[in-house]
Amino acid sequence: MNPISPMTSAEIRLRFLAFFEKRGHAVIPSASLVTPDEKGVTNATLFNTAGMQPLVPFLLGKQHPAGTRLVDAQKCLRTVDIDDIGDKTHATFFEMLGNWSLGDYFKEEAINWSYEFLTNKEEGLGLDPQRLYVTVFEGDAVAPRDTEAAAIWREIFKKNRIDAGGDTTQGEAGRIFYMPAKNNWWEAGDNGPCGPDTEMFYDVSGKFAGRTLTHAEYVQADDVRDIIEIWNDVFMQYEKKDGVIIGKLPKPSVDTGAGLERLTMTLQGVDNIYDTDLLKPVMDLMKNPSQSLRNKRVIADHLRASTFLIADGVIPSNTDRGYILRRLIRRATISMTDKKLDAGRISKFVDTLTNTYLVAYPELAQKSDTIKQVLLDEATKFAEALAHGMKEFDRLAVSGNVSGADAFLLFSSYGLPIDVTKELAAERGLTVDTAAFEAEFKKHQDLSRAGAEQKFKGGLANADDPQVVRYHTATHLLHQALHDVLGEGVGQKGSNITAERLRFDFSYGAKMTDDEKKRVEDIINEKIAAKMPVNQVTMPKAEAEKTGARHFFAEKYGDEISIYFIGNDIASAYSKEFCGGPHVKNTSELAGPEGKWKFKIQKEEAISQGIRRIKAVLG
Ligand code: ALA
Repeated sequence: MNPISPMTSAEIRLRFLAFFEKRGHAVIPSASLVTPDEKGVTNATLFNTAGMQPLVPFLLGKQHPAGTRLVDAQKCLRTVDIDDIGDKTHATFFEMLGNWSLGDYFKEEAINWSYEFLTNKEEGLGLDPQRLYVTVFEGDAVAPRDTEAAAIWREIFKKNRIDAGGDTTQGEAGRIFYMPAKNNWWEAGDNGPCGPDTEMFYDVSGKFAGRTLTHAEYVQADDVRDIIEIWNDVFMQYEKKDGVIIGKLPKPSVDTGAGLERLTMTLQGVDNIYDTDLLKPVMDLMKNPSQSLRNKRVIADHLRASTFLIADGVIPSNTDRGYILRRLIRRATISMTDKKLDAGRISKFVDTLTNTYLVAYPELAQKSDTIKQVLLDEATKFAEALAHGMKEFDRLAVSGNVSGADAFLLFSSYGLPIDVTKELAAERGLTVDTAAFEAEFKKHQDLSRAGAEQKFKGGLANADDPQVVRYHTATHLLHQALHDVLGEGVGQKGSNITAERLRFDFSYGAKMTDDEKKRVEDIINEKIAAKMPVNQVTMPKAEAEKTGARHFFAEKYGDEISIYFIGNDIASAYSKEFCGGPHVKNTSELAGPEGKWKFKIQKEEAISQGIRRIKAVLG
């Protein structure tokens, strides 16, 4: 395949944004990969998996501050396809280019602009319209056949003198194909906006020389990837709740998604995403001839995803987002021929990636030291775990395939994520009972959450001692100050208070620097000097959750919630937490009877993987 255009991925991204900006769209930055948690409870989707996800509230009718026409390149992360990584087109991390109408324009403009951007040489990508094929929704019991989108396409082809052929539903050759909901209906799960879509395909093989295809030929060409999907325009018209359509949206909207990796691959004339300028530089770092192509791709994919995840504040751990990151790093490591990821390699990978994304995501370069450190810490832990884990693996594997319980033991006691166990098994021609592993894993997560809750509640030594009460309030200040300095990734894991000191455990991936510790101390001492009132209110749980007060797992509290907040009112409070007390009445009491005490961090250390412990005193 010859390159269609020497256009770089960076230029494709910029052209897309500029094209739609010129047509009245506001350019908005990519949201974080991490979906926002509400009221301290982890968002079940963990990561944005499509460009539309951060915009769901606006597709449902909420007003967006930037207006009704938006355009962006959104970072996305999908792990459902993790077993496909290593093939030609699947990626864990990818970017989705999208233009959005929030109750503004609809099918006519959306489809015309898609065509124009794809084919226009000056402002767009200059793709050959003769190699373009499209699909539209065929209709079902939920929504009608999208003859409107089909008619718009037919008109476009006619205007541009492209032979659109006949009625493909009648066995005739054409360019417009009707497909069922499985292909041409879009929704992000069981809840939210949804609707029929029209998808655009490009003949990357050049085999069809611009001719029209029958329905069967189209399906076959898609199957073998002679033609690939390059863009999807979704016409958001309905809202689903728990998988059922509950009505029409107040205003129809448009959500489009074009995968940057795929567009780049198409334009650069290569048959896989790893040969595009997005991933080739990383692939080129791996020169060992005995390394399989698939392993090289896994490493490139997983380390790119890890780099972006760490830049968005995720740290490796054994639960939720942290576990996904851990899996990616550990699987990348065991895909290396010598199963090693050392500082030298990490540096090369991260520097190469930050360089690729220098213009679009300058934060990677800004955070490259942290990214390298988090990768190195995890790689170091894994090197130890792997040495023991492999021995154990071989012992367990003597009896044949790996059971769910064994896979879980390897994970919980030896730090081998399921993908690593699967790779080790595959190397030996064995299989792993992943379904049984997932069941064990879920049980373990539920238990560890309940455990964290118990530990927290039992953390107060003697609630009558005034010094214990001071430390309790200081703990709330510390919790908030850690969020201020280290970011929202910090999560409380436990606390323990005596009259001599406070102890606070939290999740965070790196050792705190002296500067970070000093900033935390300074903030707390400022709040003590500011003589802020400490207040308590009680309210029903639903209301309490709306205040945004920090808490552990919502379901563990009763119906009436006590909230302590530090500040004049709950809305502007510096700190607010679900808490039974007791606390001081004013932060000035933390300065002691003579008003001279200062808050000091005595020790900051790791107590387990990704969990830090602070010991601090007032004195
Ligand atoms: N939301 C649509 C997709 O992800 C555009 O394909």
